[in-house]
Amino acid sequence: MEQTLSLLEGHRSIRRYADEPVTAEQLDRILGSAQMASSSSHMQAYSVIGITDPQLRERLAELAGGQRHVREAPVFLVWCADLSRFAEAAGMHGAELQTSTEYFLVATVDAALAAQNAAIAAEAQGLGIVYIGGIRNDMRAVSELLELPPLVYPVFGMCIGVPAEEPDRRPRLPRTAVYAENRYPAGSRREGLEAYDREYREYIRGRSGGGRDTTWTQEMSGRTAYPPRTFTGLLREQGFRLED
Ligand SMILES: Cc1cc2nc3c(=O)[nH]c(=O)nc-3n(C[C@H](O)[C@H](O)[C@H](O)COP(=O)(O)O)c2cc1C
Repeated sequence: MEQTLSLLEGHRSIRRYADEPVTAEQLDRILGSAQMASSSSHMQAYSVIGITDPQLRERLAELAGGQRHVREAPVFLVWCADLSRFAEAAGMHGAELQTSTEYFLVATVDAALAAQNAAIAAEAQGLGIVYIGGIRNDMRAVSELLELPPLVYPVFGMCIGVPAEEPDRRPRLPRTAVYAENRYPAGSRREGLEAYDREYREYIRGRSGGGRDTTWTQEMSGRTAYPPRTFTGLLREQGFRLED
């Protein structure tokens, strides 16, 4: 038990990898663990694509905003939400697939749960991982490159490899900020956020050797001030119905 909990509590994203392969056995355990994740109504509404072609990897690294670790990681997986199997299953039984925002969410959550199981299975084998949301910078280009059929979209990528760095754990919000009993907590969170900002500032200063001086609320307010990536148009073109 202690080993499992320490593994979970010791997570950090790894972005530098040793020049060592991830073995076929390791990858098999990673994918096997991913497949055992819980899944809404047992729909298993995801697919995962391993990118072994170096040119394709290079292109994905560029599309993800030039992230070096995407190019360098021994393994790079693209986790996709996938409703395409249900169109096929429906056709096999003379039925019609009804999609909706609910199924979009089901598929996205299924992909995330499978991926997080994979992440833990990788870490349990001494490997390091980092998720890559950057592949959604240009979802259309990624979908074309991977020849994704209708009713499939790329949710995020994941780099996996033997760690060649040992970053500190990134401090999390105080427990009181994320957990409450029976009802959502009333009132301002300002005090908790300010306390967290102080801790986070120390972490960032340490991690950057003093070069960066920022707080969590500062980072978040900067991030959320910009319009996020937009892709509902592409999702609709891909056959996802984002209505009830
Ligand atoms: C869905 C998702 C997308 C992410 N995308 C990226 C990414 O594109 N590049 C990157 O370097 N890290 C990415 N991350 C890693 C986060 O930055 C990281 O998990 C977070 O800062 C917490 O740090 P930790 O994982 O080291 O504890 C992503 C994480 C998640 C869950």
